[in-house]
Amino acid sequence: MSNTASLRPQPVASEHIPLKPRNVAFDWADTPLHWIPGDPATTHTINVLHLILPAGERWFVHVYKQALPHIRDPRLREDVIGFIGQEAMHSQAHDDVLPHLKAQGLDPAPYTAQVDWLFEKLLGDRTLPPGRARKWWLLERVAIIAAVEHYTAFLGDWVLNAGELDARGADPTMLDLLRWHGAEEVEHRSVAFDLFVHLDGGYRRRVRTWATAFAALVFLWQRGVRFFMENDPTLLDGKASFKEFVRAGRQGVLPTAGDMARSIPQYLSRTYHPSQHGSTTQAVAYLAGSPAATAAEARTEARTEARTEARTKGGS
Ligand SMILES: [Fe+2]
Ligand SMILES: [Fe+2]
Repeated sequence: MSNTASLRPQPVASEHIPLKPRNVAFDWADTPLHWIPGDPATTHTINVLHLILPAGERWFVHVYKQALPHIRDPRLREDVIGFIGQEAMHSQAHDDVLPHLKAQGLDPAPYTAQVDWLFEKLLGDRTLPPGRARKWWLLERVAIIAAVEHYTAFLGDWVLNAGELDARGADPTMLDLLRWHGAEEVEHRSVAFDLFVHLDGGYRRRVRTWATAFAALVFLWQRGVRFFMENDPTLLDGKASFKEFVRAGRQGVLPTAGDMARSIPQYLSRTYHPSQHGSTTQAVAYLAGSPAATAAEARTEARTEARTEARTKGGS
């Protein structure tokens, strides 16, 4: 192998599988406000996902629909279509948690309005003329999505293995939402990076957009935790703190600061490929037993059966 070849991203072929969206539904009626009992800080740190992901994943879908006509590889095209279907479901599922938070006295609208502005206006289409400028902006956004997906895969892998959340008695419906989503993030973890490499793959763009995405995520996350802690009606003097974050990491109810720091050189390595981290087998195994995913599967099967029956009757 030449030196140049050894510096290319090295995919693990056995980690690739065809993707399918699962049409899940969750019932939030019995989920308490502090769904990790006695730990509002960690609950709200994870709750920030519900603030960012509805608009964020809707934006992924929006950008990828623009990228589709530029894909020349049929397998990657299928992967991107599967990715779009999964992300659209994720966005909806997290959005559905927001009315439940509002009913519990934690109205997320002031924060989500800012997140919507970020994705729809700042990262939106802009009125660029067709040609180079428009293509540049598309490539930039495709690269930002690849960087963000490094973190969604990291978090997905983490939550699938976070046994401490079960040990603390975390709400099973919320855990299923997080693990169904996390498992699909692990399942499709290579798609955004493969699309970026297919359309551009420039190393300088990878580093630049990683820095943008990382800074934006840290900014949004700490603001989101502060927002939840300060507006939680059950807390007298709710404050977010970095100390709490480190404590939760040590206790296994959040990723550790060390693991997060180590994920940075991983993504910036020239030979990095998302398939090198996380396990598709573990993700698929979770999805095969997830209450929401299996219910979705049963609904799809029932619909297909009903359709076939109607067709058979119509034909006879
Ligand atoms: Fe997602
Ligand atoms: Fe994703």
